[in-house]
Amino acid sequence: MSLNIDSVLNETRTFPPSPEFSAKSALGSWEEYRALHERSVEDPEGFWAEQAAHLAWFRTWDRVRNWDAPPFAKWFEGGKINASFNCLDRHLPARGNKPALVWEGEPGDKRALTYRELHAEVCRFANVLKGRGVRAGDTVAIYMPLVPELAIAVLACARIGAIHSVIFGGFSAPALVDRINDAASTVVITADGGWRRGQVVELKKIVDEALKGTPTVHTCIVLERTGKPVPMEAGRDARWDDLMREAKPDCPAAELDSEHPLFILYTSGSTGKPKGILHATAGYLLGAQLTSKYVFDLREDDVYWCTADIGWVTGHSYVVYGPLANGATVVMYEGAPNHPDTDRFWDIVERYRVTVFYTAPTAIRAFMKWGDEAVKKHDLSSLRLLGSVGEPINPEAWMWYHQVIGGGRCPIVDTWWQTETGSIAISPLPGLTPTRPGSATFPFFGIDAAVVNEKGEELPNGQGGFLVIRQPWPSMLRTLWGDDERFKEVYWKRFEDKGYYLAGDGAVRDKEGYFWILGRIDDVLNVSGHRLSTMEVESALVAHPAVVEAAVVGFAHEIKGEGVAAFVTAGAGHAQVPALAEALKKHVRDTIGAIAAPDQIHFTDALPKTRSGKIMRRLLRDVANGVESKGDMTTLEDLNVLAKLRAQDEE
Ligand code: WTA
Repeated sequence: MSLNIDSVLNETRTFPPSPEFSAKSALGSWEEYRALHERSVEDPEGFWAEQAAHLAWFRTWDRVRNWDAPPFAKWFEGGKINASFNCLDRHLPARGNKPALVWEGEPGDKRALTYRELHAEVCRFANVLKGRGVRAGDTVAIYMPLVPELAIAVLACARIGAIHSVIFGGFSAPALVDRINDAASTVVITADGGWRRGQVVELKKIVDEALKGTPTVHTCIVLERTGKPVPMEAGRDARWDDLMREAKPDCPAAELDSEHPLFILYTSGSTGKPKGILHATAGYLLGAQLTSKYVFDLREDDVYWCTADIGWVTGHSYVVYGPLANGATVVMYEGAPNHPDTDRFWDIVERYRVTVFYTAPTAIRAFMKWGDEAVKKHDLSSLRLLGSVGEPINPEAWMWYHQVIGGGRCPIVDTWWQTETGSIAISPLPGLTPTRPGSATFPFFGIDAAVVNEKGEELPNGQGGFLVIRQPWPSMLRTLWGDDERFKEVYWKRFEDKGYYLAGDGAVRDKEGYFWILGRIDDVLNVSGHRLSTMEVESALVAHPAVVEAAVVGFAHEIKGEGVAAFVTAGAGHAQVPALAEALKKHVRDTIGAIAAPDQIHFTDALPKTRSGKIMRRLLRDVANGVESKGDMTTLEDLNVLAKLRAQDEE
């Protein structure tokens, strides 16, 4: 971590907000914002009550915050609310004919839905779910390409109080099985396939494979997207279009308790089993709505595009709930950024006159590599604000984003947050915060963030430590699905006496107090902005018959931020040849998904271990990164192991 600290603290370029942007700021001046932030953490109940009043409620809450039994927080108890109602119904009088979703498929097909049309589709699909026996509190698994029906399915669940569990379309059958079974989902919504780089990803085929091992599932709803024929199992499978044709158009939004579970979203932790992050309706919706409004400075005529898939939390909060709760026009694009060419995104920005654009550093680095020409072909003058999320953005990529994409005129909001935080937690506010390339700057309202040492004591500026949040906030996770103990253990145990939330990231504040995120402090990799646990990949590898032992670490990767390096000991009789390396990569792709496939495979007769048998990942990380190992090696059981690994690397 120390290396990063030095390098981030050398970054002193500051970009003050432009006067034009500041003049339009909804929040007044920088000083007013600071004062409001102070109030939000000193009087959270007062602050959040005022903000929550802007949502549509069926019944107002009795109590703003309940933190009587930490770490289990409750917000707006006694209130009745519906997230789908807030995203749709409440806009109908003023925005009925305004485009809500403007979608483009990878092959170039297009579809736009106004708020009225989206509302109608959601109501109909909610009735489809009811017709299939789905009730409030049931969990529904959604495994779809990035099509409007994905957003429709999500909002239909929210409408009737069913808990959606969206599983990213890049996951494989075994990953699907784990997630469906953990949540005990009864219904799976999928499509015949989706388009990615000109190929059909056969989602239904993967679902069919998965459903052999998921006893709770009684219904599978299949959207026709690619037209490629798929087998349909009588009794279990039904076509989206057939069901919609028969469904009634009216479906009042259920009046749900504020704390009613809205969704589960699985994410990687430092042990193998994915964690089902659980979010509650009112608090989550408020976080997504308020951050969208202020961080993206949403205005009535904005055309807003967040490139994330709804399979990740960014898509939940900033494709669906946040922008729609604000009545914004949301652009959605199904496919790859380089199909048919590397200028696809810029072509979309130009054609739809996108004004606010939110993407990930890994994408930005890929665009940099593909060259400025692809960008310069297009008129990007509609853009006024740029965002970044998912991993630390390196200053070089920040500057390129600022100059080449933003034409030097668009503020950049580098937004730090997590599946767990539900909504953006540290970020500049455009027009107010002077930005620094690579820094997420300052906490959002209600977020009492700090950098602390092992004892939970706040560290002076310039010293790196644990990033914590010192009091609860409305959109925080409520627990891990079915595992309160793990929830306590992972996020709260380290600073139990203080009641601090442990984010799992390292951070440092610079002289002026700017937050710089230094990356994960646990065994979690951040590959292309997606979280993967080293354990998950390791257990996939050792499940292969040729593998005896495996250790996985991250290494610095030019595009992905972090790449996956696997150190593998093969069993007797298995030749350690490139063909086996390829077979192992494919095996990981098939068991978890393409994002987890190792970039490097190192065969080794033994792994570097401590005398007590613990794998010394630190050393493996050095090998994978091609750097000298420093620090204590006295605990290493067999020094030869490391020497051999290095020698092999130089071959
Ligand atoms: C990392 C994605 C630095 C961080 C919204 C965090 C970031 C993890 C940033 C959460 C950022 C996300 N700067 N690091 N702007 N945004 N991260 O749950 O390590 O997929 O803990 O949520 O991504 O990843 P998750």
